[in-house]
Formats: sequence, structure tokens, C-alpha cells
Amino acid sequence: MSMEPRWWHDAVVYQIYPRSFNDSNGDGIGDIPGIIEKLDYIQSLGSNVIWLSPVYQSPMEDNGYDISSYRDIAPEFGTMADMEKLLFEADKRQIKIVMDLVVNHTSDQHPWFQESKSSKDNPKRDWYIWKDPKSDGTPPNNWESFFEPQAWTLDEATGQYYLHLFSHQQPDLNWANPDVRHAVYDMMHFWLKKGLGGFRMDVINMIGKPSDFPDATIFDAGVAGWEHWSNNLLAHQYLREMHDHVLQHYDVLTVGETPFTTTLDGRYYSHPDRNEISMIFQFEHVSIDREEHNAVKKPFDLVQYKEIMSRWQQDLYQKGWNSVYWSNHDQPRAVSRYGSDCPQYRVVSAKMLATTLHCMSGTPYIYQGEELGMTNKHFESIEEFNDLMAKFHYEKMMKKGLSPEEGLAFLNDFSRDHARVPMHWDSSNNAGFTNGQPWLPLNSNYTEINAQQAVDDKTSIYHHYRQLIELRKASPYRDVIVYGRYELIEPEDAHVYAYLRRHEQRALLVISNFTDQLQTRHYSFNIEKMVLNNYSDDELNWTSLKAVTLKPYQSVIIEVAC
Ligand code: GLC
Ligand code: CA
Repeated sequence: MSMEPRWWHDAVVYQIYPRSFNDSNGDGIGDIPGIIEKLDYIQSLGSNVIWLSPVYQSPMEDNGYDISSYRDIAPEFGTMADMEKLLFEADKRQIKIVMDLVVNHTSDQHPWFQESKSSKDNPKRDWYIWKDPKSDGTPPNNWESFFEPQAWTLDEATGQYYLHLFSHQQPDLNWANPDVRHAVYDMMHFWLKKGLGGFRMDVINMIGKPSDFPDATIFDAGVAGWEHWSNNLLAHQYLREMHDHVLQHYDVLTVGETPFTTTLDGRYYSHPDRNEISMIFQFEHVSIDREEHNAVKKPFDLVQYKEIMSRWQQDLYQKGWNSVYWSNHDQPRAVSRYGSDCPQYRVVSAKMLATTLHCMSGTPYIYQGEELGMTNKHFESIEEFNDLMAKFHYEKMMKKGLSPEEGLAFLNDFSRDHARVPMHWDSSNNAGFTNGQPWLPLNSNYTEINAQQAVDDKTSIYHHYRQLIELRKASPYRDVIVYGRYELIEPEDAHVYAYLRRHEQRALLVISNFTDQLQTRHYSFNIEKMVLNNYSDDELNWTSLKAVTLKPYQSVIIEVAC
């Protein structure tokens, strides 16, 4: 099989977390008019797709991932007219807008749930998952929630429990009910007809719940119950139905957020002949440095990272499509996590990470501020965190007997709030994010790390991203980057990541030093041309690959003879 070309094969997606992107009216909360003001910035970067985290009406318990009306815009973000203007202005710049589709659950404030909850015989009762207690009054099974100890909450008035894989304010929809599915499909048409470029589908691999609701049996990996509700046949069946009713009628990018997936699952979701979705976000590489159950950070193991990325690159080659990412709104800042955020190496290591990822096959995703090398923020106390998940993890750690210092240290490594700290636009008050009081305090390093500085400085991380995007979209290397075969070189090398991309008569070698030490290596390729080097003053060292010494976090793209 060779892949039928699709417009999103050479797309580069820029993710916006609206709350933290740009505030246009001084209420401290980023908004849609604020995004419109920055479209030129995104266009100059070269990205042609924006994934917008949810902007729908929501009580914001989970910052918009708890939707109370799918056809309305949250007033703090703007109006439907603002949203339509965003689509129009983006289209003028050849940028497509991908919205978040959060349909595993709604907010408990959604009228559907309000009705469902009102009585056992309400017509919408079966739109959510209600079960009788066990005979001793306890929940129907032992499933856990991502944000709470258990996945079931008792509704006193009707005497039944409802299921929520996330918070009790995010009840799970019952996808077994065809009325629910068709309500979702109608809503998707509503948005797609406005000219959307597609959907990012929140935890879409969890929509199929087995009808017998069996107890979880695996307790030492992930949230108890996942073996029953993730990636089952039902999820695939529903997605094929969704494709049939909705997606086949539009030429759109769809990306499923899918924790707990293997490359085989990845093929099931993204193989074009299966008619499900374009691609998925896998979670293996963002799980290697954390041990959730013991709340500890593990050292980043480059050999393991290479094994994971290479397996995905190879297993999906011509059998599906990858998405590749370092960060998003649920992950800490990439440079702090995988590179180095100390002043000496921040810039060069952020560029190294970018090069490593952007030469892989699949669609790259950039999270707002990643292109500036924004870093994690240091939180002084638990009160400074905003995210409900941070609070839950902290309580869990305290119950397990960890000290408050250990709890705080874990959150300083992994809290989702790192990503949600407002974007740094310039060095003025509040980084130019707002004229008011920001909803989440800024990172004080915005005076050095900000978009204005990055745009003005031709050697910045931002310009490095721009070059990488241009290589993928409009250069003689486009086809090898987009469609080439991938080959890992020296899998056991624990310090250097080297891989080859090959397509027709072209081959690119990417070499990245993941350490702050010099590394000397020998490669048996002949250099044709240095394509990109994150040390600009270092070209002369690259005449042969027989013995090369990589500087700290050095990363190069070299065209080599085939
Ligand atoms: C996804 C989102 C996350 C959200 C959760 C519940 O994982 O990325 O931000 O909290 O789903 O919707
Ligand atoms: Ca605002």
C-alpha cells in the first residue's frame, strides 16, 4: 500500500490553550479576539493548523473540558460572532482551525445531564451511565477516576450511581444509546459546516463501555478499569459510525487523544482503509520519566525514548499516520523536562528537541510557548496550583504518607499548570498577556523569554522552528521528511539519538546529542550537505562523519549520499 496524499500529511499544528494565550479585554483571561490578534504571529511561524482547546460554554471546572453547551461559546472567550471571525481570519491566512471535541463526557451542568438526573424515568436518563448500588450500597464496580478516587458518584435523590472517568462534574455519556451518538454527530455537522478544519477528539478511545461493567483487575498501571474502557471494539465501531455519518463528508484532520494505546491500536485508528480517524496521540513517550503510582520522577531514558518513537515510526509506516509531540496543555514544558532550562543550554537544547521531532514522519504538534522555549515555573506551595488534577494528586500523595515536600516536588515536575501559565508576548507588565490580573500568575522569566525577543532575534528558538516547518512544507526535503522511511541508528546509544530518513534518491541523517557533554561518534555515511545545525558557528567541523564531536545538545540535519 502506498499512502494516498492528504492535505494534513505535511501540516504542522499549533495548539492554543485559549485561557492562557492572549487577553484582549483585560479581564485576565485569554479570549478569541486575543487569538485573532496573534494569527499573523502563527502564520509567520509557518504553522497552517491551529488546534484550539475547548472554547464552548462551560462552568470551567476543568477549564473547558467540561462542556455545558456544545453550540455556544463561553462568554469569557467571546461570542459565536468572534468564533466565526476567527475562522474567517484564519482562512484568509490559509490556516485551518481544529476544535476540541469533548464527547466522552459533558459537564454536569449540561441540560442533558440535568434532565437525566431529574428522575429515573426521564427520557434522557439513559443518555448517561446510571447503575444501582451493590447490595451493600457501594458503587457498581471498582473503577477509579482520573481526578477522584472512584469513578462513580451516588445521586441521593434517585438512589443510583453515575459513571465519570474524570471528575464527578464530568459525567460520562452513554455511547451505547444511539440517540446520544446522533446528537453528537449533529453537533459535529453544525461546526464542520462553519468551515472547521477538523477535530481533536478528547479521550476518544474511552467512549466504549462494556455492557457488563466488569471489575478492574489491574491496579499497578494507570487508572483502575482502563483495561475495560480503553481501545475496545466498541470505540472502533462508534468511530466508524461517526466517519460514516459525519467525517466522510468533509476533508478534515482528526486526531484522537488515546492514552494506553499500542502501535497496533494506532493502526486500527489511523489506517486509511478502516475509515476511523486521521491519527492519534499516543502516550508512551510522555510516561517514561514518571512513576505515577509511587509519585516519583524517573530519569529520562533516551534508549527507551528511541525505542518507543522508532516503534511508532516503523509500525505505522504506510499503515496509518503518526502525530508527534513533546508537549501539550496536560504536560510540563518540554525544555525543562527533556532538555535543559539552565541559561547556558536552554536555547540550544530546545532547538535540539525541535529538530529531533520535526524530522520524524507524522504530523508535528507545537504547544504555545514551546517555540519560545518557555520553561516550567517553580510553584512555592500547593495553594499556587489551579488544576483540579494537581489537587487530587496531592491529596492522594498525602494519604499515601508522602511528605508535603515530596508532594510539592512531584507537582513541580509534572503539574499540568506549567503549560497553562500565560503565554509570554513581550517584556512589558504581565508579558503583554493581559492589562488586568492574569487568571494564573506568570513565570517571572518572561522578561528574557518572550515572543517579541524571539521574533527579533534571528538565532532564536522561534526561528529554528520556522526553519524546520519550512523544510517540511516547502523545500527539496519535503517528501523525504513527510513520506520517507525511518531507520534508527545505534539503538543502544544512551546519549545520542541518530536516525535516517530515506525517500527515493534522498536521505537525511538527523543526529541529536541529548546531553550537556561533548560526544564523539563515527557514522559510515558521506555528507552531501549540512541542512540545519543548531550551532551556527560550527559548520567547519562537518566535512566527514568518520569522527564527529557533538557539542552539548548539538543537533544537525545532514543530507547524506543514498
Ligand atoms: C483530556 C484533556 C484534559 C482533560 C481530560 C478530561 O485528557 O486533554 O485536559 O482534563 O481529557 O476531559
Ligand atoms: Ca479576556
